[in-house]
Order: sequence, then structure tokens, then C-alpha cells
Amino acid sequence: MSNAPPARSVDHSRVEKTEIVLPQHANALGTAFGGTVMSWVDVCAAVTAQRHCGRIAVTASIDALHFRAPLRVGDVAVLRSRMNAAFGSSMEVECIVEREDTATGERVLCVDALLTFVNVDDQGKPLGIPPLEVGDDDDRQRADAARERRARRLAER
Ligand SMILES: CC(C)(COP(=O)(O)OP(=O)(O)OC[C@H]1O[C@@H](n2cnc3c(N)ncnc32)[C@H](O)[C@@H]1OP(=O)(O)O)[C@@H](O)C(=O)NCCC(=O)NCCS
Repeated sequence: MSNAPPARSVDHSRVEKTEIVLPQHANALGTAFGGTVMSWVDVCAAVTAQRHCGRIAVTASIDALHFRAPLRVGDVAVLRSRMNAAFGSSMEVECIVEREDTATGERVLCVDALLTFVNVDDQGKPLGIPPLEVGDDDDRQRADAARERRARRLAER
């Protein structure tokens, strides 16, 4: 019998969480401080990574993080993260943040980011992870694009 961990679907590890932008999150312009939003993104994506591998995953890199529109004090920020690809011990997770108008339900994309997490053991040594089950063409395209980005990332480190 094989000891390889069973593949997990993209849906298994999707995360959605919400925050309200409070005065303590704001800069002098009354919009959310970038570092605060980055920490929300890191936590949301880490939960996706940890759901996928079933244990601790550390952030190895964050790239392609773009602040596309401001989040203002009082806005509801909706964070969503999902697995794009699983490699040996590492995985690429995408996280987006939208601001939601709670009266109309309208959402505006404010941030998108790609994060790489590595599954580690208690000594911090990289450990193998379950493969990602790709469900449809979108999942497949994401996994292919993530593979190319991974090669670039590793060449640059
Ligand atoms: C990430 C970390 C575990 C990698 O350990 P390492 O001994 O350098 O591991 P390796 O070179 O054997 O690589 C292990 C995996 O990490 C990936 N990796 C390592 N550095 C990476 C980087 N900068 N970006 C993306 N992936 C990276 C490798 O591609 C490999 O993935 P694979 O198994 O899927 O092929 C290690 O560098 C670390 O602990 N960093 C600190 C993490 C941390 O504390 N994060 C919290 C924020 S401070």
C-alpha cells in the first residue's frame, strides 16, 4: 500500500474571512495601512495552506501583491484565498481582498497577492504535501501558471 497522502480538492482549503477597517487600521489619509492588510492576507492564505497540508505551513515568499483600490475606515473587507498549486513541500496560494458595500452587496477588488508556503515538521524541516486535485480548466490553468512562476521565484532567490 502507498504511503503517499491522498490528493485534496481546491474546495477543501478555500477560506473566506471578513474584517471591518477600524480607525486603528488607518493611515493619515483614512485608508487602511498596507502592512495591516498584508498581515490579514498572510493569515487568510496561511489557513488555506494549513488546511491543504493538514499541519504547520510557513510563509516562504509573497509576491505579486498589488494594492489596486483603497480600503477606507468603515469598509467591510472580504478576504478570499485558494490553492493554485501544490509542489513537493511548497504550495502557491492566491488571496484577494475586496471591499463590500453592505447596502448593495457590490464588491470592488482592492488587493490581490500570491504567496508560497512550505509545510514543515516540528524542527522546521520541509515535509511533503498532498497533491492538489484540479477540478476544471480554470484550476488547471492556475496550476500551470503557478509552476512557471515557481521556476522564476526559485531562480531569483
Ligand atoms: C521556507 C523554508 C522552510 C525553506 O527551507 P529550505 O531548507 O531553504 O528548503 P529547500 O531549499 O529544501 O526548499 C523547500 C521548499 O521550499 C521552497 N522554497 C524555498 N525558498 C523559497 C522561496 N523563497 N520562495 C518560494 N519557495 C521557496 C522550495 O521550492 C521547496 O519547495 P518544493 O519542496 O515544493 O520543491 C526556510 O527558508 C524557512 O524556514 N524560512 C523562514 C520561514 C518563516 O519563518 N516565515 C515566516 C515569516 S518570517
